[in-house]
Parts: sequence; structure tokens; C-alpha cells
Amino acid sequence: MDRIAKVLQTHELSHQELVEFLRSDRYDEALFHAADQTRERYVGNDVHLKGLLEFSNICTRTCHYCGLRVENRFIKRYKLSSEEILSFARKAIDYGYKTIVLQSGESHSYSMEAMCDIIASIRALGATVTLSLGEKSEAEYQAYKEAGANRYLLRIETTDKALYQSLHPQMSFENRLKCLRILKELGYETGSGSLVGLPGQSITSLANDLLFFKQSDFDMIGIGPFIPSENTPLAQVKGGEFTMALKMTALVRLLLPKINIPATTAMETLDPNGRAIALKSGANVVMPVITEGEYRALYRLYPGKICIDDTPKHCRLCISGKIIAIGRGIADTNGDSERFIVRQKEQRNFYDANA
Ligand code: 5AD
Repeated sequence: MDRIAKVLQTHELSHQELVEFLRSDRYDEALFHAADQTRERYVGNDVHLKGLLEFSNICTRTCHYCGLRVENRFIKRYKLSSEEILSFARKAIDYGYKTIVLQSGESHSYSMEAMCDIIASIRALGATVTLSLGEKSEAEYQAYKEAGANRYLLRIETTDKALYQSLHPQMSFENRLKCLRILKELGYETGSGSLVGLPGQSITSLANDLLFFKQSDFDMIGIGPFIPSENTPLAQVKGGEFTMALKMTALVRLLLPKINIPATTAMETLDPNGRAIALKSGANVVMPVITEGEYRALYRLYPGKICIDDTPKHCRLCISGKIIAIGRGIADTNGDSERFIVRQKEQRNFYDANA
């Protein structure tokens, strides 16, 4: 198909073309194959494993889709101590993780100083630190960067402003954009992404999400299907479809060939082989959970979360087996995106030329 041949060369697609890919299932196989080829060509065969540490499920937000929303009184809340966080991180590093992703609900239950200490301590263990803490002030983002944080994940969730506002009471779409801009300006390797299959989300708006990712030149994009969560306002609505999330993943790879794309846990919740399928359709990262014990089940964004009864060690072995079974390797580099590496080189050249 001409359009596939063209995007393999140019890595550009118009809004109209994106809508056609998303609307029809005619090109799906060709699309997945093209994304897989592009992944191999630009970021290689190795998969980056990053350890996801869900250190607190306390959240002050009321996002309509999320099981951690403050109004959900049916989950037990927890907050790990700095010692517990460091102990989980240390074990994960021993199992071979080179990146620790610190994720939590949005709250002020850790002071800025405490967070900075945690970041610096994990960096001192030799790991790269990714943060996923939601919207913070510029001063906090800056302090975390200065403490040694390398990367930040903040999904836009949807670029449909009206839909965004209806799903996120008391939050603002403009502030979300502002946070992403600040993170980039501060020099974080910045990731974003969206939920697929939200109620009221159109194909046109999904195409807009893709163009937004391209235009923003992010380093990482995570795409996950929306999974209705009990005790939330959206408990009874229809969830997102696996194939649509997979198509979005493949299109991200075609538009942004050098970035990191995780095969998300939500994909595996909808299909027992979901992460391997995503890895064969453009993805090159997996983020297994490294939180231990009951916390794994309590960090419940949506139902059906995988591996809640497993240990981090088991998860690492299990996903490594799946990766090797599809003919791929496990990366032993620190997991920076190729896009980020190129951008850093460009910046160095710029400074050298202007010195
Ligand atoms: N289904 C799928 N993903 C969800 N997230 C939150 N709630 C859900 C849900 N019900 C995702 C959001 C958030 C990430 C940490 O988890 O996209 O950015």
C-alpha cells in the first residue's frame, strides 16, 4: 500500500490519513508490520525493562476513570516510607533494572525535601530515575531535576479539551500543557501518552493526540486502553478496545521512530499476550512492577491488573522469557530514547559552535 511505503520513508501522516488508518481495519496487518520494521530499524531489537515502583496510592484528584481517585472510599490507602522505597529499589537494581520509575497518586504526602532525598539516594545506587507524580509546581519539578531525576512521565490522557475538562474536575487542560512544557524546558527526558476508548472520545480526537505527540517531540509515549474501574463515575461504561490501542501504538512508532514506547500493562489486562503483541507492533519498553507484597494489589488504577500476587523477581524472569520467546533481547544500556540521545548531541554541537 502506497501510504505505508510513504510513511516508512517520511514518518509523516496527515490528520486525514491518520483518521483513515484508525477508522478502517483494512490496513491493520500492514500497519503493525510497518511499525515493527520501523522499531527494528531505529531502536533495534533489545527491549528496555524499567522497574515500576508504585510508592503511594494516596490521591487528591477526582479523575473520572481512575480507581485511585480521592472519592473512592473502598480502597485501603498506603504510603511507603523512604526506607521501604529504597529497599524495593535496591532489590530491583540487584535483579538487573537500570531505571526505577517512581509512580504515585497526586498528593502532598511527601515533602519536596523527602522526595529529593529519595531521588538522590536511588541515583546514588547507580540507577536512572523516572518520575510519574502528576502535576507539580515548577519549583518542585526543578528541585527533583536538581536532585538527580532524569525522566518524567505525564500523560496528556486526551487532547480533546472539552473531554479532558469533563473527566478531570478541578484540573485544567492548560495547566497540563504547561507542566509538559516546563518538564521539557528543564531538560527532563519527557514522556506523555493517552488513554484510548474513553467515553465520548472520537477517532478525530485520537488522530489529534498523535499529531500532538509528533509536534511536541516527546521522548516516550505510553498508550493504554481505558478499562472501566469500579467505584468510579465511569464504572458502567464501555472500555477501550485492544486493537484500537494497538493501532495507536503502531502509529506513534511510525510518526516518532526514535522514541521509547512501552508495551503497557493495561494491554496485558485486555489480552494475556498483550505486551508481546505490542512489542511486535512498535513498542520497545516494558515496565514490570517492582512494588512488593499487598501494595501491588492496592495500587489499583483499574480492575484485572496483572501479576498482583507475584514477586518482582518472578515478574522479571517471566517477562524476560516472553521477550526472548519473540526473538528479542533485553537491553543492558540505561534506557534513554534514541531521540533523547540525538537531541543531547544536537545541543552539545550547538553550544560548541557558539562557545
Ligand atoms: N484504565 C486504564 N488506564 C488508566 N489510568 C488511570 N486509570 C485508568 C483506567 N481506568 C492510567 C492513566 C494514568 C496512568 C498512570 O494510568 O492514563 O496516566
